[in-house]
Amino acid sequence: MGNLSFKEYYAEKLARFESYLKRTFPVLPEQVGKLEESMKYSLFAGGKRLRPILIMITAECGGGDVEQTLSFACAVEYIHTYSLIHDDLPCMDDDDMRRGKPTNHIQYGEALALLAGDALLTHSFRLLSSGAPKTILPEKRLKIINLVAEKAGIFGMVSGQVADIDENKKGDDLDWLQFIHANKTGALITACIQIGAILADTSEKEFELFTRFGEEIGKCFQIQDDILDETGNKDKLGKNPGTDLINETLTYPKIFGLEKSKKLANDSYDKALASLKLISKDTTRLGETARFILKRDH
Ligand code: IPE
Ligand code: IPE
Ligand code: MG
Ligand code: MG
Ligand code: MG
Repeated sequence: MGNLSFKEYYAEKLARFESYLKRTFPVLPEQVGKLEESMKYSLFAGGKRLRPILIMITAECGGGDVEQTLSFACAVEYIHTYSLIHDDLPCMDDDDMRRGKPTNHIQYGEALALLAGDALLTHSFRLLSSGAPKTILPEKRLKIINLVAEKAGIFGMVSGQVADIDENKKGDDLDWLQFIHANKTGALITACIQIGAILADTSEKEFELFTRFGEEIGKCFQIQDDILDETGNKDKLGKNPGTDLINETLTYPKIFGLEKSKKLANDSYDKALASLKLISKDTTRLGETARFILKRDH
C-alpha cells in the first residue's frame, strides 16, 4: 500500500467507503418511498467524501483500524449531505445545482428536501450509536456522539450557518468571517480528525496536535471553497460558481481579494503541516490530503 500514489490511495479509501455507505442505507416502508428516493438522490450523488475519508486516514495514521471507522465515517457523510440540502434551499443560499445535478428541492420540492435533511441528520445518530462494529467500547462511542452533536450543532455548523446568513454582518468584519469559517465548515472537519484520533487511541498531546491540524485544514478548505466560488468551473465544481456574490456572502476574497486569499489558504496549510510534524507517527497520507484540500479545483 505504501507504493500507491496519493490519487490511488484516496481512490482505494473512497471505494471502501462507498461500498460500506450503501450497506448502511436503511430499508424504509413503502409509504415513504419518496423520502427514500430523495435521501438517496443526494447521498449517492458523488461528492468527494472528504470528511469520511479524513476519519479513515487519521485513524490509519494514528495506528488504528480503518474497519472500525466506517460507521462513523458514514454518519458524518449523512450529516454533511443534510447540510448541503438545507444550505441550497431558497431560504438559505437558493442554489439549483449540487453534485452535478439539480438540487434536492428542485427535484423533490422544498418540503421533502427539508425532511430528507432531517432524516439524514437523525439517522446519522443511529449509525453513531449502534453502527457496527460492536467491539468499540461504549465510552468511546459516547465521546464521539457527544463530539458530533457539538460540532454539527450550535457549537459548530448550525451557528456558522446562522452567522453566514445574518443580514447585519459587515462586509469587512474579519472576526465575523473567521467565526463563520471555523463553525460552518471547520468544526465538522476538525471533528473528523478528532474521531479518527479517538478511534486510534492517541495520547492527549497528540490529540491536541491532530485537532490543530484539523482546524487549519478546515480553514484552508473553506478559503478554497470561497476562491472556487469566484474562479471555479461549473462542470468541475458540480455547483454554480458566483452565488456568494449574488447572496452577499462574507468570504475571504471579499475581504482580501483573490491573491491574498490564496496566500492565507497556503498559510493554513503550512500551519497544518507544522502540527503534523510534531506527531511521532507516519502522517504522510494526512499531509498529502491537506495538500489536496489546498490545491483542489472541485
Ligand atoms: C461543500 O462541501 C460545502 C462546504 C462545506 C463548503 P464539499 O466541497 O466537501 O462537497 P462535496 O461533499 O464534495 O459535494
Ligand atoms: C456551506 O458553505 C457550508 C455548509 C455547512 C453546508 P457554502 O454555502 O459556501 O457551501 P457551498 O459553496 O454552497 O457548497
Ligand atoms: Mg451557504
Ligand atoms: Mg451554499
Ligand atoms: Mg461556497
